Amino acid sequence: MAARAAAGWPRGFVERLARALGPDEAARALAAQAAPAHAAFRVNRLRATPEAALAAVRADGLDPEPLPGLEGVWAVPAHARGRLTHGRAAAGGLIYVQNPSSIAAVLALDPRPGEAVLDLCAAPGGKTLLIAERVGEAGIVSAVEAVRARFHRLRANLARHGADGRVRCFLADGARVWRKVEGRFDRVLVDAPCSAEARIRPGAPETARHWSERKIAEMARKQRRLLASALRCLRPGGVLVYCTCTYAPEENEAVAAWLLARHPEARVEPLAIPAPRTMPGLCDWADEAFPEAVTRALRILPDGPWEGFFLCRLRRTA
Ligand SMILES: C[S@@+](CC[C@H](N)C(=O)[O-])C[C@H]1O[C@@H](n2cnc3c(N)ncnc32)[C@H](O)[C@@H]1O
Repeated sequence: MAARAAAGWPRGFVERLARALGPDEAARALAAQAAPAHAAFRVNRLRATPEAALAAVRADGLDPEPLPGLEGVWAVPAHARGRLTHGRAAAGGLIYVQNPSSIAAVLALDPRPGEAVLDLCAAPGGKTLLIAERVGEAGIVSAVEAVRARFHRLRANLARHGADGRVRCFLADGARVWRKVEGRFDRVLVDAPCSAEARIRPGAPETARHWSERKIAEMARKQRRLLASALRCLRPGGVLVYCTCTYAPEENEAVAAWLLARHPEARVEPLAIPAPRTMPGLCDWADEAFPEAVTRALRILPDGPWEGFFLCRLRRTA
């Protein structure tokens, strides 16, 4: 615990964040992250119409407000989070309690009806569900998860929300799946395991249990393998979204730069996400200058219900 700063953040984390975002943005991010978080949810259209879902939320005694910019997404104040997550609307699968930044990752992927989509790091399945909704019955969704207990949770979650008939689940290492399904998918999502810096809360040591500089380096190694695998699973012309809920440039821009250096067929595409506070991908970190294309990635900064997130959309051109 000696490494914990007085304010309750892991000490090295605060310093690194100030270097990555600049001191002012870092201070705003920390303040937003320390504040009690609103809870956002979206209507699960596999189970309910917006009218029925909202009626069920109101019957749970809640008065949700629409979240500006994201259609079909609603929020309740922080003090009502428990009532939302344990209410009948959530238990019945009519809504899915989900951070707007996670929803934005699927919007960036933009799955279309009838497409074949691979979710390479899928559990517990929040993004898989939205992908399944978007591709519709004519589409194909494959969801890969490497950790057995989380794989079972993924399947249960998909079943509870009416998507079990629409998604094929695989207990496998996403870094290896390209060997079996090379070039098959229209879109691939890599919601990578990460050091989860955007989920650290001051004074809540359990939220920082994945955080250390060594962990960041270990995650970056995993992420590079997953991203390279994802690119290989795409058909030429297909789209890939790489995302994390961490600020560490080693796990974000540096991973994208690593891919671009080895795969000239990968191109970064610009992103427009209706989050209140964003910044472009960093152009450098430590001693490494990133290619200009990496600045087309997007950092979502924490604000209200929006959690800190990194998003990079890539196209396989050949
Ligand atoms: C950030 S979470 C995914 C959250 C999920 N996409 C959602 O929206 O609900 C990352 C997931 O990747 C899984 N994972 C870690 N290493 C993996 C690997 N090599 N292949 C596939 N999944 C992996 C983790 O167990 C974890 O469930």
